[in-house]
Amino acid sequence: KRRIVSGVQPTGSIHLGNYLGAIRNWILLQNTYDTLFFIVDLHAITLPYDAQKLSKATRDTAALYLACGVDTSKASVFVQSHVRAHAEMMWLLSSVTPVGWLNRMIQFKEKSRKAGDENVGVGLLTYPVLMASDILLYQSDFVPVGEDQKQHLELTRELAERVNHLFGGRKWKKLGGRGGSIFKVPEALIPPVGARVMSLTDGLSKMSKSAPSDQSRINLLDPKDVISNKIKRCKTDSFSGMEFDNPERPECNNLLSIYQLVSEKTKEEVAQECRDMNWGTFKSVLSDALIDHLHPIQVRYEEIISDSAYLDGILAEGAKTAAGIADNTLTNAYQAMGFLRR
Ligand code: TYM
Repeated sequence: KRRIVSGVQPTGSIHLGNYLGAIRNWILLQNTYDTLFFIVDLHAITLPYDAQKLSKATRDTAALYLACGVDTSKASVFVQSHVRAHAEMMWLLSSVTPVGWLNRMIQFKEKSRKAGDENVGVGLLTYPVLMASDILLYQSDFVPVGEDQKQHLELTRELAERVNHLFGGRKWKKLGGRGGSIFKVPEALIPPVGARVMSLTDGLSKMSKSAPSDQSRINLLDPKDVISNKIKRCKTDSFSGMEFDNPERPECNNLLSIYQLVSEKTKEEVAQECRDMNWGTFKSVLSDALIDHLHPIQVRYEEIISDSAYLDGILAEGAKTAAGIADNTLTNAYQAMGFLRR
């Protein structure tokens, strides 16, 4: 079976972008592939954060994975920091990652510009190396993510090829190993719709956890009245009717795409249904669809989060399965890189 891995940072609350760009696709993929989904808590400390809140956010995120439909009879769910191989592998990969590759990362440039040099930890720069470790440890074939992770996936591929070239094949065999490639070179799986859900207050910027205004995003756990309020107040335009793909109407395109995904209709059906609606009518249709789609997720979330023994059990089980795979790759990498065997 081909393998899939992916994860979300436990920072702030999970929003519609995370769900439509990533998590929703995990649910579809878990039936066909061998899947591992992690909560990337080690990544969450690369920007200033509140230590009092990290563990709760980590549990909440795990509960939301399950509430969204991740099925632990098929998928393993675990916390990144519970599998030590991630941090260890990161060190090995760091030593062969050119700093230039990391300096070019768009997310690093954006985040570090905002924070200022003196406030940026080294971890923010090496973040993509940890992400590459998350993926390469599991010999993953595919990584379902939103569009903003595309560049990180490219770097992961280049890094895998570089390590295979530097240390794999016959060189590794000479060291007494099995030879061949150390890492599988993975591919990003980016969905055709939903890969880049935009802000409710500006159709040209991405919906994000870190945007200062909560009005700009729908969080998966927003109550009904908050959802309808946010949709009521979201940015519109002065065109009449609703249409996809008009570059002058980014907000309209974004909201129609959201509606398409949560109502599980086709683009043509949505275009047809909404063509003659005015903004007011469309907004109430969209609100209702969002509320209907998120309600069952919210109910399940409440059940799961209140049963902490159940959740802990899932995470312990997941970490055990993950460590079994990850340790194997890590041992091979140590050997290929010439370390003395333990
Ligand atoms: P994070 O936590 O920022 O986002 C989690 C997932 O949500 C997607 N996403 C979006 N998709 C569509 N529209 C949006 N507005 C939107 N915002 C976020 C992201 O693309 C991502 O798929 N570095 C990663 C976490 C990570 C990871 C990994 C992912 C760490 N290691 C290994 C896959 C494999 C991140 O910060 O995602």
